[in-house]
Amino acid sequence: MTRDEEARAILAGNDRGGYTVPTDGLYPYQWNWDSVFAALGFAEHDMGRAWDEIDTLFSGQWDNGMVPHILFHKVDPSYFPGPDIWRGVGPIPSSGISQPPIAGTFVRWLLELDESFAARAEALVPRLIAWHRWFMEWRSEGGAIVVTHPWETGRDNCPDWDGPFAAIEPVGIESYRRRDTTHVVEEERPLQAQYDRFLYLVKLGAESGWDEAYLREANPFRVADPTMTFTLLRSTRDLRVLAERFGGDLAEIDGWIAAMEAGAERLWNAEAETYDCYDERADKHTGVVSNASFLSWYAGVGDDRMLPQLERVCGLETYFIPSTDPAHPAYEPKRYWRGPVWAMMNLLIAKGLAEQGHGDWASKITENTRAMIAENGFAEYFDPRDGAPAGGRNFTWTAAVWLAWASPTAGRNAWAA
Ligand code: SER
Repeated sequence: MTRDEEARAILAGNDRGGYTVPTDGLYPYQWNWDSVFAALGFAEHDMGRAWDEIDTLFSGQWDNGMVPHILFHKVDPSYFPGPDIWRGVGPIPSSGISQPPIAGTFVRWLLELDESFAARAEALVPRLIAWHRWFMEWRSEGGAIVVTHPWETGRDNCPDWDGPFAAIEPVGIESYRRRDTTHVVEEERPLQAQYDRFLYLVKLGAESGWDEAYLREANPFRVADPTMTFTLLRSTRDLRVLAERFGGDLAEIDGWIAAMEAGAERLWNAEAETYDCYDERADKHTGVVSNASFLSWYAGVGDDRMLPQLERVCGLETYFIPSTDPAHPAYEPKRYWRGPVWAMMNLLIAKGLAEQGHGDWASKITENTRAMIAENGFAEYFDPRDGAPAGGRNFTWTAAVWLAWASPTAGRNAWAA
């Protein structure tokens, strides 16, 4: 099988009918941004199936506009914590937190690939607006977008949370059995102390009925994050274009864009000369250069302040962009978000660089990702030192970004090649 054939087989194998699981066993449900990447992969050979993926995701949208990070369509005991622990309050059993809001951008891209699906896009616009409004109402701190649980950012165990987590005592959690380490070796997954805190924060939210007003005051974890801020800012710019065509309050959307442009500046750490997280409870930057820091071009914030960091970080290991700066003392090249390379983050970063006049860097990242996947297959993430596959295998978003972008045959999204 060629890598292209393998990638298509992975999407087909992870397809559960209208939605795709990230990988069998480790993640047996529908995850929010995983699905949006999956849609881009399907778009290469089945546009109708691409739109189905997004529609199924939005079928789980809550009344308050929030689109959950996990939809538990069918209970599967191979995953923990399940719907009984999360106690989401939406139309489908779900988690109680969201995930990086890339859907607005990807809906626009899907439409650009094939105009004949305009009605599907039109139906999604009010839903996207409601989701973005939820973020701006509950999760904006001076326009920087905060999370109430690390899993919202996707970057579950990155060193940015080490400071905020040290201030949390995970009291009162019931004993539990992790399932992730039955699928993946412990060295590539979060530590037990982090898991205790993940569950503590789930319990806090679930017991409040996911009351955002309460959590804004009571949650000890409230951190402004570049993944959320940059993806929401970017998606809001794309949503504006969709709203111009299909309807929506443009003044409201312009207000969000202006707020987040100011918010992005709150994430600039002048001392460390990087975008990073801002811990709202401790009132300080986290001081970590991560792959999320390099989403600034994707957000269109209009500066090249991250270029020196890009050059430095990409020069340290064979494969880039590492999820944590290899020069940081907390760098661990095999442990999930503390070092490994994530191909789908590279797609977003390369796209931003290509758009902002850095085609040379976009090409370098594309070629590097192409070699990494061609040599090592469709792992969840990769060791930056040698590209060794890590985490889950047969991974949906790695297959999807291969088909849509990194493969030599990826035609339609050749923007970053
Ligand atoms: N990534 C989390 C997990 O490992 C959930 O989003 O279960």
